[in-house]
Amino acid sequence: MWEYPIWEVPRLGGGMTIGLIATIHVLVAHFSVGAGFLLAIGETAGRKKQNLILLDFLKRFSKALILVGFVFGAITGVAIWFSISLASTRATSALIHTFVWFWATEWVFFLVEIVAGYAYYSTWDKVSEKTHLTLGWIYAIAAWMSLFWISGILAFMMTPGDWLETRNVWDGFLNPTFFPTVGLRTISSLAFAGLYAILIANLTGNWTREERTRLINFGAWFLAPLVLMLPFAAWYFVEMPPMARHFVQGGAAAMTLFFLFGIAASTLVGIYAYWGLIRYQRYVNLETSCLLLAIAIIATVSMEFVREGTRKPFVIYGYLYSNGLTVPEAGTVNSKGVVASAPWQVLSEGGSIDTPEKIGRLMYKVQCSQCHVQKGFNDLIPLIQYWGKDLLAFNLDRIHELKAFMPPLAGTPDERKALVDYLWELKTARESSEQRKVADNHEPDPQS
Ligand code: HEC
Repeated sequence: MWEYPIWEVPRLGGGMTIGLIATIHVLVAHFSVGAGFLLAIGETAGRKKQNLILLDFLKRFSKALILVGFVFGAITGVAIWFSISLASTRATSALIHTFVWFWATEWVFFLVEIVAGYAYYSTWDKVSEKTHLTLGWIYAIAAWMSLFWISGILAFMMTPGDWLETRNVWDGFLNPTFFPTVGLRTISSLAFAGLYAILIANLTGNWTREERTRLINFGAWFLAPLVLMLPFAAWYFVEMPPMARHFVQGGAAAMTLFFLFGIAASTLVGIYAYWGLIRYQRYVNLETSCLLLAIAIIATVSMEFVREGTRKPFVIYGYLYSNGLTVPEAGTVNSKGVVASAPWQVLSEGGSIDTPEKIGRLMYKVQCSQCHVQKGFNDLIPLIQYWGKDLLAFNLDRIHELKAFMPPLAGTPDERKALVDYLWELKTARESSEQRKVADNHEPDPQS
């Protein structure tokens, strides 16, 4: 039921807002996790071989980690909580209630990660080599553990698995896409750390070209696991719900293309790293390292987009629809009515929603505005531009069949009719304002 306010973000919509913030966060968080292994492995090797250049480089790298990883990571992490609790209140509540101890565990690791990371960064050359190295490994393991715990919850949203029947939290956590998610995210974390290392090797230090090449070569090792992206993505793919897989397999062209771009871009970077950087020890200049990083960012954004997009019409697959109704609730709203199921909205409208116009607007707000932003992202009006009113009414009753990304429309016959009238009104208003614009442009110019 719609017991919460609906967060309407102009142009973008709540979903895209979450998407934007979460994407930045994922990029930064992956870098922070991969950086742990890069530092710990690098320092272990550097101390053993007394490689002063590598150690000097790692010191600079750890500073970048604090500046970019920690500061940006923390800000965007808080912003995610802020945006999901506003835009997907029900889902956030369901995740917190289901996984409360899992979140707590994740936060403990996160705290250890932050403390160890700062300690590591600030104690270079100040504590014994052994202590410093231990701090590095604590950081690396804690950071990876936070990825591990969060992966279960993210994967749960795509494939809640047996949890749907048993409601057992471990069934939900160790769900079908959990292990492939951990694998994919680990690979991507290492790759981001490697790419960032190559960038830092270009940006800092008074190293000779040969020294830089060796540092780049060191960073490249962390890109090599990218060749495993393909098998892990295939594993993830077979575990996806059939409808989500259908979207990737051509059911939604955008999803298919993004998925292919994501996989192809990651694999190509991995192949380049292996042959170009590790086998033939090629040099990478600043521009090329930015380019590589940009390709990796595009690949990650594509994959995140696919993960979010193919989950439609659900937020938690098979349990909670994007519009905030659970599957059983969606069935009851047809007899109960949307107005009667939206107490908060009624309260915010001054206690009553009674005219057809108000009912139509409410219908739109609680069931469509999550994915269709007026005059913004996925605007509905252009999609129905050439439809007659009868077709609109006919189609809305079957929107979940028309496009499987959509939850079925809920509401009594009167409420459904109110939505049709409301949308029709919006469409005609938009058309006449556009006609007016065209007419204005055609007015004779007084000066000519
Ligand atoms: C979970 C997200 C989501 C929700 C909620 C949603 N839609 Fe959609 N809808 C989409 C997507 C995605 C498309 C595809 C857009 C495209 O093809 O460009 C779409 C397309 C449509 C189309 C065009 C269909 C066609 O065949 O061209 C209509 C009409 C539509 N939606 C109406 C609605 C109405 C009315 C509501 C509210 C009752 C609604 N949608 C709720 C995601 C959603």
